Amino acid sequence: MKLLASLLTAAILAAAPAFPAFSAGEAPAASAQPKAAKADLAKGEASYTAVCAACHAADGNSTIPLQPKLAGQHPEYLVKQLLEFKGDKRKDPVMKGFASMLSEPDMKNIAAWLHTQKPKDGFAKDKDLVAMGERIYRGGIQERNIAACAGCHSPNGAGIPAQYPRLAGQHADYTTTQLTAFRDGKRGNSIQMTQVAAKLNDREIKAVADYIAGLR
Ligand code: HEC
Ligand code: HEC
Repeated sequence: MKLLASLLTAAILAAAPAFPAFSAGEAPAASAQPKAAKADLAKGEASYTAVCAACHAADGNSTIPLQPKLAGQHPEYLVKQLLEFKGDKRKDPVMKGFASMLSEPDMKNIAAWLHTQKPKDGFAKDKDLVAMGERIYRGGIQERNIAACAGCHSPNGAGIPAQYPRLAGQHADYTTTQLTAFRDGKRGNSIQMTQVAAKLNDREIKAVADYIAGLR
């Protein structure tokens, strides 16, 4: 045993010099510039707190029904919306003003910080409607060719980064407004969503929005 132990020690000692050499060789590569500039979370938090928190809440979990929760949302989706508010592709006079104050790096910093914030759960309110909402969300409406929301936004509403936004826990009033706006051509920044919403009636929109509010 003693011999084995000393042989092992010798083997480790013999191998040891290789490790420092290896890591010394690796170090410069690891600290080399990353391909894309990294988002600055501290800057993102500072800008968000100064300007956006008034409406979207300090942690991104707005409590006001028409002001969306942003916490935990995919950063790519947030940046897309901010660019489109600024460029009038998504029309909203209030958000146009705030988005226009931001450069693209500002948007990326804020979005990256918001993504680190924990989304708070919401609740469905209308027991009669929520079952209809669940059917639409999970299975769509086949006879009218309405796709299941779950197919793109995932069964638990977490979305699929980077293309499909998170919906779970969002205020039902906000979701209702957006689906109606897609349907009526007031929000024109997603052909996919215009097509989905085109065939939904008001009651179905209300139902699926209520189900989404309680989704987690
Ligand atoms: C005066 C209140 C107010 C302020 C301040 C404000 N927002 Fe908004 N924001 C809104 C409202 C209202 C909407 C919903 C617009 C709509 O109905 O399309 C919104 C929507 C958004 C959306 C779209 C969310 C989604 O799920 O599609 C993003 C992203 C956003 N705001 C980010 C910001 C950022 C970042 C700031 C700070 C620079 C900010 N907002 C400041 C009121 C505000
Ligand atoms: C084919 C894929 C697809 C399907 C199916 C789909 N969505 Fe979407 N949805 C999207 C995409 C992509 C966006 C992002 C649009 C954008 O970039 O502005 C989106 C955005 C949304 C938004 C806006 C989120 C926000 O924060 O403003 C809501 C609400 C929404 N979808 C609800 C639904 C509902 C409800 C259904 C089912 C009836 C559904 N979606 C089915 C792809 C889809």
